[in-house]
Amino acid sequence: MKVMVIGSGGREHALVWKLSQSEKVSQIYAVPGNAGTGKIATNVNISSDDLAGLLVFAQENDIDLTFVGPEAPLVAGIVDTFQEAGLRIFGPVKGAARLEGSKVYAKGFMKKYGIPTARYEVFSEPGQAIDYIKKTGAPLVVKAEGLAAGKGVTVARTEAEAIKAVEKIMVDARFGRAGDRIVIEECLEGEEATVLAFTDGKTIVPMLPSQDHKPAYDDDQGPNTGGMGAYGPAPVVDSEMREQIYREILIPTLEGLKKEGIVYKGVLYTGLMIEAGKISVLEYNVRFGDPETQVVLPLLKNDLVDVATAIIEGRLDQLEINWENKKSIIVIMASGGYPVSYEKGKVITGIEEAEDLYNLKVFQAGTKFVDGKYLTAGGRVLGVMATGDEFKEIIERAYDGVEKIHFSDAHYRDDIGFKALKGVE
Ligand code: AMP
Ligand code: GLY
Repeated sequence: MKVMVIGSGGREHALVWKLSQSEKVSQIYAVPGNAGTGKIATNVNISSDDLAGLLVFAQENDIDLTFVGPEAPLVAGIVDTFQEAGLRIFGPVKGAARLEGSKVYAKGFMKKYGIPTARYEVFSEPGQAIDYIKKTGAPLVVKAEGLAAGKGVTVARTEAEAIKAVEKIMVDARFGRAGDRIVIEECLEGEEATVLAFTDGKTIVPMLPSQDHKPAYDDDQGPNTGGMGAYGPAPVVDSEMREQIYREILIPTLEGLKKEGIVYKGVLYTGLMIEAGKISVLEYNVRFGDPETQVVLPLLKNDLVDVATAIIEGRLDQLEINWENKKSIIVIMASGGYPVSYEKGKVITGIEEAEDLYNLKVFQAGTKFVDGKYLTAGGRVLGVMATGDEFKEIIERAYDGVEKIHFSDAHYRDDIGFKALKGVE
């Protein structure tokens, strides 16, 4: 079977790596991929936003199954395009991808189907939004409606910050049309967790819970990033809470989608806030998370091709999904200055040396391989992943791996996984 993985981040490297373990897979194309995927797959230089180009490539190369990493092609309707051409692709159709593509749609959906989420208002005029902020007072969360590469959300601790966020989104139009409308939400406190779930539109099966680390610096300080590290299974989601998430969030979401006439196939990502036993949905994404995928997939025992095929064929209920009874963690190494501004093209050394330690795996993201050297090519450069029995041990191992890897101005957090150590399990 020939498979294609669309995207170029650490998540996509993890998908390619997992698929490379399948006996059913004979060839993998990573489009466009990175230096890491290039070692185990064939990288093809087509942008993940070029739907027409991706379709032609899939047709000309007889791709049997396509996986989509990032949200933009899903929201643009790549699944519909491939299906109309008779090609197999794993992911939700455009109508379902609105759960990530429009925060206004997602909030309205949650309200309609009684799925717990922060209270909110929608605005299409900056003046009205600012009046509302002055009336309500901080803290508040201001969100651009559409896709903003993870940068459209501001958790505003003061009124001034909230007003600045409205101006950035609606007046300066920093995210273009994605900022035509904004959602202003009540600010929730608590601990965040991610639950990814497989669904074929009839059955929904949660994966192991994980926890991302969004802020750039230790102790959750600094600006939000795409994610500086992750671990799973997150102890903050104990077995009772897993049941509660299934009952209060996953099942009502699936039932709501059915009532809307949407058959959702693929991975549903729920970003959750947990406080004193109360669970709220912060956001839906319509794909695997990054970096959560890099800790969840290594613990999945099933062949990913089997899972995707069962979902596409609508028989997820007949498949048992099994997990390793282990833990995993990933520490992301980013370019200095990320997420604001950073340089590219720095030489990276020590990737192989890190992988030779214990059973570490380096999932690459913003990397290129030029003239026999790895070079940085993005904000999040790579992640060092460790799997084992205890968090304490795998945190140490992952950081031993990080110590082996060098590029100038490398930046990483020193406290990835520490919350698991004070966790409840
Ligand atoms: P989102 O893309 O909507 O998940 O927002 C990005 C990040 O902003 C989340 O991971 C949270 O850290 C934070 N966030 C979003 N909504 C809220 C909220 N209502 N209360 C507190 N924090 C939030
Ligand atoms: N880790 C956050 C995301 O994938 O959106």
